Amino acid sequence: MTRINPSRRQFLRGLFDMVGAATAAELGLLAWSAPAIGDEKMARMAMPQLAAPNVPLVNPVTLARFVDPLPLPAVAKPVGQRSDPTHPGKQLPLYRMEMRAFKAQLHRDLPPTPLWGYNGSFPGPTLVARRNEPLLIEWANALPKKHFLPIDHTIHGAERSKPEVRTVTHVHGARVSPSSDGYPEEWFEPGRSAVSHYPNAQDAATLWYHDHAMGITRLNIYAGLLGAYLIEDDAEKALNLPTGDCDLPLILCDRLIAKDGQLYYPVSDDPDAPWVSECNGNAILCNGKLFPFTEVEPRRYRLRLINAANTRFYELSLSNGLAFTQIASDQGLLAAPLTRSHVTLYPAERADVIVDFSGMDGKQAQLRQQGDAIMEFRVRDRGRKDTSAVPATLRTIERMAEASAVRDRVLTLGEQDDAGGSPMMMMLGGKHWSAPITEDPRQNTTEIWSMVNLTGDAHPMHLHLVRFQVLERRPFDLFVWNESKTLKYTGPAIPPAPEEMGWKDTVRADPGMVTRIIAKFEGEPGRYVWHCHLLEHEDNEMMRPFQLLPA
Ligand code: C2O
Ligand code: CU
Ligand code: CU
Repeated sequence: MTRINPSRRQFLRGLFDMVGAATAAELGLLAWSAPAIGDEKMARMAMPQLAAPNVPLVNPVTLARFVDPLPLPAVAKPVGQRSDPTHPGKQLPLYRMEMRAFKAQLHRDLPPTPLWGYNGSFPGPTLVARRNEPLLIEWANALPKKHFLPIDHTIHGAERSKPEVRTVTHVHGARVSPSSDGYPEEWFEPGRSAVSHYPNAQDAATLWYHDHAMGITRLNIYAGLLGAYLIEDDAEKALNLPTGDCDLPLILCDRLIAKDGQLYYPVSDDPDAPWVSECNGNAILCNGKLFPFTEVEPRRYRLRLINAANTRFYELSLSNGLAFTQIASDQGLLAAPLTRSHVTLYPAERADVIVDFSGMDGKQAQLRQQGDAIMEFRVRDRGRKDTSAVPATLRTIERMAEASAVRDRVLTLGEQDDAGGSPMMMMLGGKHWSAPITEDPRQNTTEIWSMVNLTGDAHPMHLHLVRFQVLERRPFDLFVWNESKTLKYTGPAIPPAPEEMGWKDTVRADPGMVTRIIAKFEGEPGRYVWHCHLLEHEDNEMMRPFQLLPA
């Protein structure tokens, strides 16, 4: 095996691309030796190494494909009604989502995997909400007191003084009040629960819910704490897009699975500081299964693609000459459908696509990630007629004028490296999570956020509360920035791709670029967060609070 460049980022990436094919012993060969540095701590920080897995891992290539039916998470049902101070004199439907430990087979030929999930399922039940019909959810933590994944107690918010198991749920993309938004520090322990209020006063969109507990979000989501949250509205309904059993959420995430069925989460070689900056699995799960299949009819389907992975971006395509017709992105419908051979999704991004299986009776097609099968569609005619449509225009999306912004915030995306150039933590605006709040937009004003990426990686940046538009990406001179903290552009601004012209809540900030977004800060004043949605980064300082000031 060849030696690799001892940059941790490269190292992790290379390792996880190979992990399927290599044994643990072979992986061990990839470690490089530490230089002689007197100070113990310095030596550790200078040499974070990815530890070889201490258990044999499943190589998905060796598993039979398309032997498990695609699971469709149950649609959540209210358990009752409750009044809420937000709607005096009105009873709101109350849902209950209990986080529990359970076991499920990720593949027919694998032993059951211990998981954590909402109502004992991974993904959790799908919440289907109607626009302007508020609802309540009681998020109950019924998990064990011990975590089964490696907590790094050196990370801020995950100190040994904190309970190991803590959860707080956030609905990604929902506009809610601060107390219902899943603020990372508002976690609670097993045996406790919290009721959140969701107004659903926003356009139809594919949202998703997931854990957000400070310092362990990456582990809680990896354990299975995620699900889909759909908002429907009349405007979308009037379009007559495929619905019902022809509207399928496809939640994608990847995992490393040990041969005994346990999830394996990668660790550094330091048991006291096991955090790693990336976690790419070799097994891509669709709705919690590896290589599932589903029967479809020769007609149009709406697929709601959700990237729920910790780190990996998906570059999706279909086999058998099929293309995607993308109709929506993070925050709902695009202005018009887009035909695409590939759909790229960074963590937390969504794309709703129409796939037309008509004329394919008896054939099959695969959904693929960079050429590798994720799942299979088997087309079988059951004699139903397709009365759905995909209109040429979906809605009007007015571009927000830059001149409407009262402020342009220049915010760096950076990382703090050790002496060896390996990332130790990630930072926003050069500040730690605990530093005083600096982003404080005023309610109902419009701001531009210019995110200056100083790192070598792309980061999917997410703001809670708001939907935004992507203005542009523009290359800048990193050396000039480092010397004088001034932006010197080195080329023209690159307009967003057509699929980024709708409303977004997560945007890819490319390395070497200033990524500029514009948002109107509507909502209830208070504290929210913005962060990188690579969960390893988010957990290790690449998250900051922001304060919405009253108008
Ligand atoms: Cu998916 Cu803070 O979010
Ligand atoms: Cu969010
Ligand atoms: Cu990041």
